[in-house]
Amino acid sequence: MLNIAIFASGGGSNAEAIIRHLKDHAELSVRLIVSNRKNAGVLDRADRHNIEKLLIDRKGFYEEKNIITRLTTAKIDLIVLAGFLWLIPEYLIEHFPNRIINIHPALLPKYGGKGMYGHHVHQAVFDNKEKESGPTVHYVNEHYDEGNIILQARCPLTAADQPADIARKVLRLEHQVYPVAVEMVGRFIMEERN
Ligand code: GAR
Repeated sequence: MLNIAIFASGGGSNAEAIIRHLKDHAELSVRLIVSNRKNAGVLDRADRHNIEKLLIDRKGFYEEKNIITRLTTAKIDLIVLAGFLWLIPEYLIEHFPNRIINIHPALLPKYGGKGMYGHHVHQAVFDNKEKESGPTVHYVNEHYDEGNIILQARCPLTAADQPADIARKVLRLEHQVYPVAVEMVGRFIMEERN
């Protein structure tokens, strides 16, 4: 079995898509939901799906590093960031080399980096009159949105698309591609083990 932890700060619609995709999967299992916000919608989703959850604070995450113990106890093999807005500290990347992935709501390397999240991304895409957008799934390194790209999906934009329309189009694609990307990376890891 390959055990997955999903980290999310918000509503968790991507987390939901992944949980549903992997429900009853023979080899991959979402074991833990981690959030830095106690009112995050993703925590309700964890309850609904009967998945263990963990609320973290800055001191614990960046200084005490106690999350390692929780991840080890839950035998986590892969960390999936789904709208998690804190920078992943180096100790965690060292502990999970090529075992942390993220989804970003734009075609990286464009529109990435600190401060580029959620509606800020779609506003910038709109302001620059881009003809297309779409999510990027990538490995996580110590810089925001800079790790190796695993896959991208594209959707055309029209002149009539407002930032909210762009957000909706990209999010719909995220729900389609992220669960598949998670499954794919999970399989790579299992093949490496054998
Ligand atoms: C998603 O659009 C994701 O790509 C984005 O946050 C949203 C979370 O939505 N992530 C970033 O902007 C990271 N830089 P969700 O909580 O409904 O899955």
